[in-house]
Amino acid sequence: THPSVVCAAMLILDVLSPLLLLSILLPGYGCRAADIPEDTTSEFSVRLYQRLQAAGGQDNIIFSPLSVAVALGMVELGARGASLEEIRQAVGFSHLLPGVEFSLLQNLTAALLDDDSHYVIRFANSLFLQEDVTFNPEFLHLMKKYFRADVETVDFSESSAVAEQINKWVENHTDSKIRALLSADDFSSVTRLTLVNAVYFRGSWKNQFRPENTRTFSFSRDDGSEVQTLMMYQQGDFYYGEFSDGSQEAGGVYQVLEMPYEGEDMSMMIVLPRQEVPLASLEPIIKAPLLEEWANNVKRQKVEIYLPRFKVEQKIDLKDTLQELGIKNIFTNNADLSAMTDVEDLYIGKAVQKAYLEVTEEGAEGAVGSGMIALTRTLVLYPQVMADHPFFFIIRNRRTGSILFMGRVMTPEIIDPNDHAFDSM
Ligand SMILES: *[C@@H]1O[C@H](CO)[C@@H](O)[C@H](O)[C@H]1NC(C)=O
Ligand SMILES: *[C@@H]1O[C@H](CO)[C@@H](O)[C@H](O)[C@H]1NC(C)=O
Repeated sequence: THPSVVCAAMLILDVLSPLLLLSILLPGYGCRAADIPEDTTSEFSVRLYQRLQAAGGQDNIIFSPLSVAVALGMVELGARGASLEEIRQAVGFSHLLPGVEFSLLQNLTAALLDDDSHYVIRFANSLFLQEDVTFNPEFLHLMKKYFRADVETVDFSESSAVAEQINKWVENHTDSKIRALLSADDFSSVTRLTLVNAVYFRGSWKNQFRPENTRTFSFSRDDGSEVQTLMMYQQGDFYYGEFSDGSQEAGGVYQVLEMPYEGEDMSMMIVLPRQEVPLASLEPIIKAPLLEEWANNVKRQKVEIYLPRFKVEQKIDLKDTLQELGIKNIFTNNADLSAMTDVEDLYIGKAVQKAYLEVTEEGAEGAVGSGMIALTRTLVLYPQVMADHPFFFIIRNRRTGSILFMGRVMTPEIIDPNDHAFDSM
């Protein structure tokens, strides 16, 4: 089968002076581990979302909470003192015995790499070291153990060559979805370490949309404007529920739809307010326990779905965002990364995440039908989820609760109404 979803998220922790740390992650999925670890980072994920939302205006949002947690875990392996504690506190590990979080992250990622999974997953970590810098052997050992990090030595003074090498690596692990991530300017003679992790996910919907049912359709943005988009359609058994927090603030009743990917371990959850309610009214009520409530209370039933094709992409300055969440020390002169190396005055100069998600019927090639079908609200046989206005979504592992993607669609893929292919619409 063709992939119905291609996802790629990338996280770069760019430790500039004098260390450059780069980390990339694309989602993964599927989970059949005998010991099912419980992800404890959903609070952190939601706080990250709320920060991005506050800064995001009317933009789409996409990021990978798990990739941020893994990248921070890698930094944490090399951190001590306040640098270490702030990460434990912010990410949600402080209730665990020291060091247990590494085993947790290892298990969460291992669960995604299960041979039985119905997904194409490539999850890879890599550590690029400056040739003449000595890193603590224990750190390197733990990087390998917990994050399967490959270790390579490079000469960062050859900045163009290093950028090219890493970009190639990234491209190779993201099905070429993410190219030219770094440039020579990102490296300098003081760069000592680049840490890269990548996961590439490609999965199919358990119930695929039939491309011939896709039609152009109007999508109403929160600012009142309308755009033309390709709306996918299907009727089928999904997990569905209607919720309300009892206040009018959140716009009253809203819908939650959970659409599993093949294998059912992974799913996309879509949260849709009523048509006349802007997503901004619903966003403030999103909290970690609510995610759990949604997951526990959606019921399998027949649902009619109208979902736009969409492609979201975002590059986030994690340094600003993480500082707002209390992770400050690693970005200052006071950073303690002494478990990584004896070289002094290391701190993280920059942290960026780039994520990319594409949702289609079954892949990028779905042909668009040219006939008319009834896209109306009049004949409602089953609950109808009409995502013709902004919605919130997460892609999660249903066994572990790991959140691989979180985001919102404010504007879907816009099609040009003048394009002759769509004249008949
Ligand atoms: C990770 O999995 C191993 C092996 O199944 C288990 O012993 C360990 O307790 C797990 N760690 C966590 C934090 O769940
Ligand atoms: C690309 O990735 C594949 C497997 O993911 C690996 O076998 C191959 O060596 C990689 N190529 C490069 C140029 O890194």
